[in-house]
Amino acid sequence: MDQTFPFQSHPLPYSYAALMPQCGANTLYFHHDKYYTDAVYELNQLVVRHRLTALDLRQLLTADLHQLSAHQLEHLRDVAGLVFNHQFYFDCVCSASGAPPVNALTQAITTTYGSPAALEKLMVQAAESTCGSSWLWLVSEGVHGLHLVITPNNFTVALDAVSPILGIDLWEHAFYADNHFDKAAYLHHWFSHINWTAANRRYAESMRSPSASEQNPRI
Ligand SMILES: [Fe+2]
Repeated sequence: MDQTFPFQSHPLPYSYAALMPQCGANTLYFHHDKYYTDAVYELNQLVVRHRLTALDLRQLLTADLHQLSAHQLEHLRDVAGLVFNHQFYFDCVCSASGAPPVNALTQAITTTYGSPAALEKLMVQAAESTCGSSWLWLVSEGVHGLHLVITPNNFTVALDAVSPILGIDLWEHAFYADNHFDKAAYLHHWFSHINWTAANRRYAESMRSPSASEQNPRI
């Protein structure tokens, strides 16, 4: 996620049909090749216009860009968040499906939530509690544990404080064509395709990299 200008659309790491029938090839094609890829193009235009080509994607989301007006900053953060979130989302799953393996992440999930199945149930409840376009995340705050976070619109989690482990798109364009209003079915299918190897790697990195909260211990 530390890519720099010119930003490029990351190839989908599986085929458009890999998640069928619960996620149709058309849904994945338009989501990745149109919606996300168009945002990458727009982000390049924005960073040129605002002379921010020296910043990487993470910096565009976290840096103090006081030279921009409030409207310009809101627009930039929206587009950069859209790019970051979708890259993360597409990389969170894989074509293979099955039960979660036993690894450090799933052991931490079991310690925190009871089991991966209990986490899935909580994620469904969280998703169903939202009525607008948003994102649902499982984040690691290092030694302070795992948390579920909902961010509205295209906002990203606080990358300078937590590490995203899982991220799911709750915008209707991600699921409505195949699942209509059934967020539970959408999440169940998404959960069964999680790339647990990659998620476990992100979790391990989060435990090695002290978060801001660890550098400034809570009192
Ligand atoms: Fe999306």
